[in-house]
Amino acid sequence: MCGIIACTSTQEVRPLLLNGLRHLEYRGYDSAGLAVLTTSGHLEVHKKIGRVDSLAAHLPSSPPPAHLGISHTRWATHGEPSDSNAHPHLDQSGLLALVHNGTIENHADLKSQLLAAGHHFLSETDTEVLAHLVGQHYDASSASGPDRLTDSLRLALASVKGTFALAVIHRDLPDIIVGTRRGSPLVLGLGRNQHLLASDAAALLPHTRKVIFLNDLDITTISPDNFSIASLGPHTASWHISDLDLAPDAASRGHFPHFMLKEIHEQPLAISRSLHRRLDHDNASAHLDQLGLSPASLHHIDRVRIIGCGSALYAGMTGARMIESTAFLPADTEIAGEFRSLNRPLGNHSLVITVSQSGETADSLAALREARRKGALTLALTNHPSSSLAREADATLELLAGPEIGVAATKSFVSQLSAFALLALALGRLRHLPHHSGLELIHALEQLPSQIDSILAQSHSIAAIAARFASSHGMLFLGRGLLFPIALEGALKMKEISYIHAAGFAASELKHGVIALIDPHTPSVCLCPDDSLLSKNIGTIHEIKARRGPVIAITSNPNPEIDSLADAVIRIPATLDLLQPILHTIPLQLLAYHTALALGRDIDKPRNLAKSVTVD
Ligand code: G6P
Repeated sequence: MCGIIACTSTQEVRPLLLNGLRHLEYRGYDSAGLAVLTTSGHLEVHKKIGRVDSLAAHLPSSPPPAHLGISHTRWATHGEPSDSNAHPHLDQSGLLALVHNGTIENHADLKSQLLAAGHHFLSETDTEVLAHLVGQHYDASSASGPDRLTDSLRLALASVKGTFALAVIHRDLPDIIVGTRRGSPLVLGLGRNQHLLASDAAALLPHTRKVIFLNDLDITTISPDNFSIASLGPHTASWHISDLDLAPDAASRGHFPHFMLKEIHEQPLAISRSLHRRLDHDNASAHLDQLGLSPASLHHIDRVRIIGCGSALYAGMTGARMIESTAFLPADTEIAGEFRSLNRPLGNHSLVITVSQSGETADSLAALREARRKGALTLALTNHPSSSLAREADATLELLAGPEIGVAATKSFVSQLSAFALLALALGRLRHLPHHSGLELIHALEQLPSQIDSILAQSHSIAAIAARFASSHGMLFLGRGLLFPIALEGALKMKEISYIHAAGFAASELKHGVIALIDPHTPSVCLCPDDSLLSKNIGTIHEIKARRGPVIAITSNPNPEIDSLADAVIRIPATLDLLQPILHTIPLQLLAYHTALALGRDIDKPRNLAKSVTVD
């Protein structure tokens, strides 16, 4: 999704901006652009459909120096991907340039008013409307210097409905960038002789570790040696400087050909990190004191509702099943976008858990706000403790997965599952889960990293299976109970990066319609753990084979019946039922990865997808 990087410096900024845009590429985009103010006072704008490299190739080879600039990667919402729709956009005077993440809901009304006032537009975007609106107030203002720009933003944004993170420059203000946000993230980076604004802290890493995560309605004015933060709202702005705790190579692929593969291989470490100092052997429970929720408040919960989008939703569905089976607490899941539309009733003792890798997904944030408005206790499960979600929820359980750059969620997903296992353990021990069962779960959790390693060692044989079935026109994923949501996630991974039509189903639903899809060209991936449902899962395989459907079975202990029926078998280590979802996820990720590789897909930047969907 759209990304912003802007910088005011005592040095040349073009290479910094291009490099910053490359750090934002993983979010998903279709065009890129930048506007710089040259030291001779010329506002230079370049925009190009396609990759940041196309933009770089389009820049003049020996340009005049520029120490101030704003840049952007665009993921089309209003208007198709094109050079003219790419950001930055200029106002009517052509002297003010603006980049924007978010959506302006009343752009059509605002545009009509501006058209009536004689404005001309060059794009189909809501952002150009915003640029013209700010420019209109700038031209009418009697203030001077930076105040003129902040005042015009303040006035323009008062009539804007929607979400924004934006950075604005004006030709007459050679050192100054003004940035502000409402509903979309914006981070201020404090560098040496330079200040930066970015929509994603990872883009600031090469330049500084000192950052300020701006709050909604903060408006900041930056120059190379100074910054100020005020509020667009009635309150005084409050901020603090954070140290970015990211490894310098956090955003590099290392020796892996793709971020996705690197992140799949980082899962043993991610799980170890998420368990570290959270397992309470003495009490056979999990230390969740860092949540800041007292045992008393957790004890009063009589219902858990879990909300998320995409992979986070499927982690939540698995989490709900884990909590119900371990803590005997009613738990269910809701698509975040549906939760905010449906006006769901919430009881007095509901815990609402919002799951989001980024902590910035627009639907998830809106759902959290709705749950808070209704008085529910809220918990954020996120990889980003400084995200909007974490800051607005009553409590946060940090995933500790490390930065995830690949668009398709992998290590964040298994970290969400392990976080839910910890939560289920803690909630279970607050209720009826016996001490010995708690200890059994702790021991099984501790074995996960080495068990995942043993699945990763099968990457080559999974690649061979993927190559056999990569030309399929569709794939089905079937699981029961705790593994039904994992079937959904397996199908999501497959379609996200291979573009093969894939669908996940509860295996019990096979007979109720899905069976019509079975044919020799449609493989079914069957999740068959060695549990009480094994005979039912073998029955499902029989039904598929009877209709000449190919079967890829994922199972734990050797089973002669499965071995003789299935076209391919992937064997994974045995574990407790509760943790089967974690181990079954790994071969599904590898299957999707190797299928996409065999088809020559752009694995880290799949078409049309965005890593973090920060707009409605
Ligand atoms: C997008 C991504 C998905 C991700 C979902 C939720 O749709 O393409 O991979 O699962 O957003 O993201 P979140 O950051 O809220 O977990």
